[in-house]
Amino acid sequence: MTNFDSTAGSPGQIRFFNPGPVWVRPQVLQALTGPMLSHRSQAFMDLYGRIQDKLPRVFRTSGRAHTLATSATGVWEAALVSSVEGPVLSLGNGAFSEKWGEMSQRLGLETDTLKAEWGKPISPDEVKKQLATKKYAAVTVVHSETSTGVLNDLAAIAKVVRDNSDALVFADCVTSVAGTKVETDAWGLDVVLTGSQKAFALPPGLALFAMSERTLAAAKKKKFRGLYLDLVDIDAFAQKKQTPTTPCLSLLYALDVQLDHILAEGIENRWVRHEAMRATVAAWAARNGFTLFAQKGAESPTVTSMIPPAGVNAEELNKTLKSMKWTTGSGYGKLKATNVRIGHMGDVDVASVESYLKAHEEAMAAMRNKAGSPA
Ligand SMILES: Cc1ncc(COP(=O)(O)O)c(C=O)c1O
Repeated sequence: MTNFDSTAGSPGQIRFFNPGPVWVRPQVLQALTGPMLSHRSQAFMDLYGRIQDKLPRVFRTSGRAHTLATSATGVWEAALVSSVEGPVLSLGNGAFSEKWGEMSQRLGLETDTLKAEWGKPISPDEVKKQLATKKYAAVTVVHSETSTGVLNDLAAIAKVVRDNSDALVFADCVTSVAGTKVETDAWGLDVVLTGSQKAFALPPGLALFAMSERTLAAAKKKKFRGLYLDLVDIDAFAQKKQTPTTPCLSLLYALDVQLDHILAEGIENRWVRHEAMRATVAAWAARNGFTLFAQKGAESPTVTSMIPPAGVNAEELNKTLKSMKWTTGSGYGKLKATNVRIGHMGDVDVASVESYLKAHEEAMAAMRNKAGSPA
């Protein structure tokens, strides 16, 4: 449970820096209260039609973009289950990318893993070498590794895959799309997915994705695609402005409202704002002796993982910030004890990030005082 009202605040005063779910604007929360409708009614088709007009603009595709009533992980599975018989090449340089590889194995698909050390980006040259060893059906890659704050060069990786194989490029853009540049069509991506609770700044529970004609063609050739996550069904219903099963209507109301907001801000402006937040954190870290975990040049614009200076305990810093009523992200997985993580994505702004960084200074001062005070 959060120790304060996480919906509180307005630009400049947001205190919620979890790397997802993120802070949600009050107007979006209000939109959740829309009336119930049959999802086979004209009113629903009008709502879904509006979403279908706007969503592809965020994914930068001239094709359709979709929603699915799952968290983002559901689309990892939909892509693999619907359109791939194997082998799969899983690129892993953090907790999420490695988990996608594990999913592929659990589905019984022949899966090879190409790993980079946590904190380092995947090398497109290494991908090229691996592609020369086998004919892969798909390559899975995470664009922005939320566990480490590394942004992989998705454009370069996709180009290497397209130039050297027929493999589909499945891109987890969970903490990139709507926060930093993702070009579904121009980069030749075959599935691009995210969850509502990240840079789209919606409540959790809805997956959003785009897919290419190549993905659909591969899916249509696959005999057993399951039912709930069948991309062919999802696309067929989308053509009727519907979903195959009951959609999470309340989140679709919120998405409709939030897409207006995102497009009014301008998608490129949104990328600029996120880059400014990244740069603000990086400059502060350099001034205050924090080490960025991501290799230089591969820092994600939406999430930063950093190691505090010697003598500052990361877990104690997180605890102190929490007691000061800030919501922070601790280091993820094996980095929990050593790193602090800041989610600077969605509708948060530079001024709020600056206040949050100032709070780190206050927290460290309080920790020093406590350590220096007599028992
Ligand atoms: C990069 C990345 N991929 C996948 C996921 C899983 O998303 P979900 O919990 O919405 O399924 C996350 C969640 O934080 C993530 O950051």
